[in-house]
Amino acid sequence: MVEREWVLLNPGPANTSPAVRRALLTPDVCHREPEFFEVMRDCRERLVRVAGCAADFAAVVLTGSGTAAVEAAVCSAVPRGRSLLVVKNGVYGDRLARIAAAHGIPAEVLASDVVTPVSPGDVEAALRAHPEVSHVAVVHHETTTGLLNPVHDVARVAARLGRRVLVDAMSSLFGEPLDVAADGIDFVMASANKCLQGIPGVAFVLARRSAVDALKGQPPRSVYLDLYGHYASQEADSTPYTPAVQVLHAMREALAELEKEGVDARIARYAENARVLRAGMAALGFQILVPEGARSSILTAFRLWPGLTYDPLHDAMKRRGYVIYAGQGDIRTYAFRVANMGTLTPRDMEAVVLAFGDALAELGVAR
Ligand SMILES: Cc1ncc(COP(=O)(O)O)c(C=O)c1O
Repeated sequence: MVEREWVLLNPGPANTSPAVRRALLTPDVCHREPEFFEVMRDCRERLVRVAGCAADFAAVVLTGSGTAAVEAAVCSAVPRGRSLLVVKNGVYGDRLARIAAAHGIPAEVLASDVVTPVSPGDVEAALRAHPEVSHVAVVHHETTTGLLNPVHDVARVAARLGRRVLVDAMSSLFGEPLDVAADGIDFVMASANKCLQGIPGVAFVLARRSAVDALKGQPPRSVYLDLYGHYASQEADSTPYTPAVQVLHAMREALAELEKEGVDARIARYAENARVLRAGMAALGFQILVPEGARSSILTAFRLWPGLTYDPLHDAMKRRGYVIYAGQGDIRTYAFRVANMGTLTPRDMEAVVLAFGDALAELGVAR
């Protein structure tokens, strides 16, 4: 069977290299033997090394989608009797609040619209008004719209006021500059299958060692998502549960590729991808939802126009081999998303723009 290779313009899982996919075909391995623990340790060490935080941080790998890492960090970090300040300007900020609620963690929600970055001044005011808040949870890159939140400024404010920060960097780690070890940040959550260019099934938390060590002895709110339990076990070259063995092998290959490319070079490649995409789409008449200055270089939400709806555009692009992504919730009715992460190059993005031009002509809705 000849399988079609799709160009994935959804924000992960992203296109991967043939070597990453081949790494899935490991011989069968027992997850409680040294051969596996060598791979897990290597992944954990490479993660903190490429993130530039090896001196103070440990990586904790979790088998599950990205939400597993977010939920493990949130439900483990906030001590009983304290509460969480959640920044909400998209679907993933909302998910942080839902996770807190599901675990009975009191939360203050600082909400704004989906195209406006959080104001560090508002975070400061909320922290001053709520001394019971111990942690701030914020999404770095709101994949809902391609909006970047000023996490370093938020961390600075939090650190000044003696609070700690959890950053959901699911769709931005290794694709946008992020100082994981910045003062104030304790936990950064991400997954294998976005800017790391690995395979879905493994998520991870980059945890400040002093913060995760301090969780020892706290009664966990979750059995599977007990961050300290995973950390303590992995530090001892063990695992409490059965990990996604093959996905971790692929993650090791993806990390080796990232080290070879270099994080700065990957960030620059994505930025050039976004530049080529946005220039080409502007020439076709598309406008960008998020204002300049607040945009990531990883994903763009483009406005639809009268007569142009998402489903026919999606289908016309898919006939050409490209998978675009709908807006979430009611955004679907007025915008769609194009990501440029994964193995894509600026040349690929030129082809994406040509395909959009073609698709619009086919649909008879060109501007
Ligand atoms: C910012 C952000 N947080 C969390 C998640 C959840 O990841 P998953 O769907 O892998 O659970 C995503 C997924 O796209 C995301 O973009």
